Amino acid sequence: MQGRFITLEGGEGAGKTSSVAFIVDYLRSQSIDTLATREPGGTEVSEAIRAVLLDKSLPSMHADTELLLMFAARQEHLVRKILPALAAGQWVVCDRFTDATYAYQGYGRAQALERIQQLEAWVQGTFHPHLTLLFDIDVELGFQRVRTRYAAQQTQADRFEQEHISFFERVRRGYLVRAAHYPDQFRVVDASQSLERVQHDIKQYLMEFIQQAKAQHV
Ligand code: TMP
Repeated sequence: MQGRFITLEGGEGAGKTSSVAFIVDYLRSQSIDTLATREPGGTEVSEAIRAVLLDKSLPSMHADTELLLMFAARQEHLVRKILPALAAGQWVVCDRFTDATYAYQGYGRAQALERIQQLEAWVQGTFHPHLTLLFDIDVELGFQRVRTRYAAQQTQADRFEQEHISFFERVRRGYLVRAAHYPDQFRVVDASQSLERVQHDIKQYLMEFIQQAKAQHV
């Protein structure tokens, strides 16, 4: 059976990255061969592009350069890692994908959505995630969490995390617009809830999705 492509999306501090391990463990507990990856990144070349994209010590980057680098990293990731894994029957869980480009570069940076659509069609053809879990959280609350994380891990904001709060309000709205537009693909998780509630909701969505996948296979 062809694998399934599951993506996780959301703003800063929504807890999606820490949910990757939970999702992978759950899928494996259901005997599903699962691969975890992330964007931008996921291959050696794409991780090198990620380092450039997040490096705040570089001079400011033109918005088109940023957009093209996102899709350059994605092209490499898709052909070298995601598509071969899916063809081999693995399920791929990816921390961010093209919906992030719509939310951050489209809604956040006000890049024309048609331009993103053109790049998406070029790089992906008709390929898109089978399921997207959107971790939605109030922007201020998300930032409080991020600040706690910096303090605990002694890390600092990357180039995106330095943006103004209004940027992240636009990103959040962009994600919610897309979720409303593609209800078959998106499931929205209220990420302001306790970890237990969030994991409970994720599990419900995954159980439903696995059942559908099995039914399609029969
Ligand atoms: P991360 O915080 O999930 O590791 O992602 C790194 C940053 O990259 C995050 O601030 C969002 C940003 N990003 C985009 O702006 N566009 C994209 O297409 C992707 C995949 C990520």
